[in-house]
Amino acid sequence: MTAGQRRPAIGMRLEGVRFAVPQKVLTNHDLEQMVDTTDEWIQSRTGIRERHILSGDETASDMGFRAADQLIREMAVDTSRIDALIVATATPEMLFPSTACVLAHKLGLNGPPSFDFSAACSGFLYGLSIAKAYIESGTFRTVLLVCVEALSRIVNWQDRNTCVLFGDGAGAAILTATESDRRLQSILIGADGQYQEYLYVPLGGTIAMSGRDVFQVACRKMSEAATTAVEEAGLTFDDIDLVIPHQANTRIISQVAKLLRIPEEKFFVNIHSYGNTSAASIPIAYREADLAGRINPGDTILFVAFGGGFTWGAAVLNV
Ligand code: ACO
Repeated sequence: MTAGQRRPAIGMRLEGVRFAVPQKVLTNHDLEQMVDTTDEWIQSRTGIRERHILSGDETASDMGFRAADQLIREMAVDTSRIDALIVATATPEMLFPSTACVLAHKLGLNGPPSFDFSAACSGFLYGLSIAKAYIESGTFRTVLLVCVEALSRIVNWQDRNTCVLFGDGAGAAILTATESDRRLQSILIGADGQYQEYLYVPLGGTIAMSGRDVFQVACRKMSEAATTAVEEAGLTFDDIDLVIPHQANTRIISQVAKLLRIPEEKFFVNIHSYGNTSAASIPIAYREADLAGRINPGDTILFVAFGGGFTWGAAVLNV
């Protein structure tokens, strides 16, 4: 919100977040047996030690269900007040029905509008933006946002350039209307398709990536987006208690911290355990930060993400 703009009477609150990952863990040492790589190379270039991978007939919507079901049960959410289910995924199970429709049925949400959208690793930020538009306009009061990725299904397990980077996971968030100041303070999302050849997955194919190009644009766009989101909230970086970035690579996170002159200790990082889980990475990190006691009532959190498209986003939230 820029100076002079009035705060809308109804805002959006993040009521709770939960996540789920598959049981199967794939370590860097396991990958050493699969491609010409080393634990040392992967850790020093990316920060990743292990990731969780779907196995057997486990599906993305199963993971999404576990995250959303836990959220609903633990937060005692009355499901009759969920007005819409939106799913951020770059790895839908089918072209249709959407993963959202499959998941809604598993959750017993037969009726509310349910749809998928794709913004790759920026999915959580795009989802917040969609939910905010619905909630602040008065269209809906409560939105369930589920970010779910089965990246192991679109990775070429013979390509060492990419297969070491990704993991599977799901994060679910409940977003509701509020009149309190503890709300989303600002959000921006953006995209630029001119970079599409740097990171893409052809239909039915596997991830293709130009790592160095992704790295450079990611650092720049994440820094710009974070700066604008904080300015639009009428704040400075000193007011930010915790930064929860998309977990793509510890070196991208360090570089963004350097560009923004924010101490790295303010960035929450859990990529070592999960790898890059695309849209699911921020909700997974948010919940782990909360469990680690890094999020307290009244705190100001900055989210920042970047992904295929390219897409990006940043938001400031008062919890
Ligand atoms: N193990 C060992 N060697 C490897 C591996 C591996 N797993 N992968 C690549 N190499 C080799 C390359 O083949 C290359 O060898 P060469 O010089 O003989 O050709 C060498 O390592 C150096 O490769 P670079 O690409 O220069 O390595 P770099 O230091 O740039 O690191 C990395 C690669 C980690 C992919 C980096 O570019 C990066 O992090 N980019 C961002 C990519 C990203 O995060 N993508 C996720 C999706 S987008 C998002 O979520 C933001």
